[in-house]
Formats: sequence, structure tokens, C-alpha cells
Amino acid sequence: MPTTIKKAVIPAAGLGTRFLPVTKAVSKVMLPVLNTPTVEFALNELIKSGLTKVAIVVSNQNTDIRRYFHGNNDVQIEYIVQESADGLGDAILQTKQWINDEPFCVLLPDDLIFSNKPTIKTMIDIYSQFNSSVIALKQVGNEMVPFLGIVESYQIDESIDQIIKCVEKPRLENAPSNQAIIGRYVFTPDIFEYIERTKKGALGEIQITDAINSQADNGSVYGYKFSGMHFDTGNPLGLLKASVYLTLQDQNESVHLKEFIRSLKD
Ligand code: G1P
Repeated sequence: MPTTIKKAVIPAAGLGTRFLPVTKAVSKVMLPVLNTPTVEFALNELIKSGLTKVAIVVSNQNTDIRRYFHGNNDVQIEYIVQESADGLGDAILQTKQWINDEPFCVLLPDDLIFSNKPTIKTMIDIYSQFNSSVIALKQVGNEMVPFLGIVESYQIDESIDQIIKCVEKPRLENAPSNQAIIGRYVFTPDIFEYIERTKKGALGEIQITDAINSQADNGSVYGYKFSGMHFDTGNPLGLLKASVYLTLQDQNESVHLKEFIRSLKD
């Protein structure tokens, strides 16, 4: 029987260079979609999925995140410091002791997904079926390929693939497909051994994608081709699009936004 998943990790120590100058004083994950910081969307998805213990990986600068969640009783939050910005693999490795040999989830606040059933919940169900790591997948355009983790995989059923290999930020001509990894992961705890053996890769950072590639080589990793509206809020336009999308879902507000956009075209 696969172990029940109770713990999740939210990496939040990123420098947020695409959001300079605001990120000189505000953590990237505190930037809002309408009035809610992206990190809170991440936390809510975890809570809705039944996870009760969350580690937020922060840098020493991210004091605003701690202040924001101070007094929050919905979930147990642990702050784990990543001393240097050495990549997502390194950020996840910092949580090894706290995770303590259990399967766990990782949710990147940059990747905001609106769907009825939380994406990470479906992935936990897939983990329970296969007792293996699961990553979220999305078909992307050629222009996005060099900025994401890209997989080679084969289809198991309509929404699940088995991963053959994955490569972080490949040049388009070297990419095995257009299927990208999006920031939702369920990991079996042996991922830590693979991270520990991972050398610096793309961008000179310890890449989680390289560790997943080794895990897929030595065992099995599955991909979930999620449905729902996905926004990359890690860049200003993506963040704006998410706000526009949410406003258009609101019956009262959408009229005003549409009117405003129409007025610009005139
Ligand atoms: C990270 C991962 C990458 C993944 C992406 C999804 O990249 O390393 O594999 O495709 O998140 O958002 P980053 O956005 O940190 O460059």
C-alpha cells in the first residue's frame, strides 16, 4: 500500500528577477493575482487536497512571507531557509530532514492552475495507483520549450504518460517533444538520493528535472496531463493574464473589464 501523503513543499526563495524593481522589496510569491498573493493560491490548493503540513522554502530576505502567514491556523507551516539560490533541486533538498522519508508534494506558486478538482489532488491519486513519482505535463508552443523542463514519454491512458526521460531548458532542436513539466510534483522519498547525486545543470543550478530523469532511468515516473486553466505567473504578463481571467469569471466585474478593453480599441 502506498504511504498516505501529508506533507508538501512550496519553494519560494526565487530571486524574482523578472519582476524587478518591485522584488527589491517584495518577495515574488507575494505578488498578487487581484488581491491574493500567488503563494496563497498554492497553499489553498494544498489545503483543498487534504495536506496538513507545508514547508515553505525561503531565503533570508523573504520575511514578508512569514509576516503574511503569521497566525494562520489552517495548516502547519514550517519555514526552511535555502542559503544560496542554487536551483529548484537544491531548494527541495533543503527539506530532506523535515520530509523524513515520506512521499511528498511540491507545488510551484508561479504555476497557477484553476480547475474544479485541484491538480495536485489528482496527482496524489495517481501516485496511490502506481506508488511512483508523478509530474504535471502540458503541451506548449515551440517558443516556450527552451524555458521549461521537457519530457519524452509514452501514453498509458488519456491523461497519464510514463516518463522515459526529461531535460531541463533544452534548445528547441534538442527537445524530445513539446510536453513540458509544470510546477506540480509528487515525489517518492528516494528523489533526495537522486538530487544528492545531481550535478549543476542548466543555468549552473541543481535542477530537479535532472534528478527526475535519474529516477525515471532507475524506476518509474508518471506524467499527468492536467486539464484546467494554467497561468505562468512568474512573469508580469502571465500574472496580469491571471488577474484578467479571474475578473472575467466574476459576473459583476467582468462587464466593467470588457467595457474598459473595448474602450481601448476605439
Ligand atoms: C521550473 C522547472 C522546470 C519547469 C518549470 C515550470 O523552472 O525547473 O522544469 O518546467 O519550473 O514552471 P523555472 O520556472 O524555475 O525556471
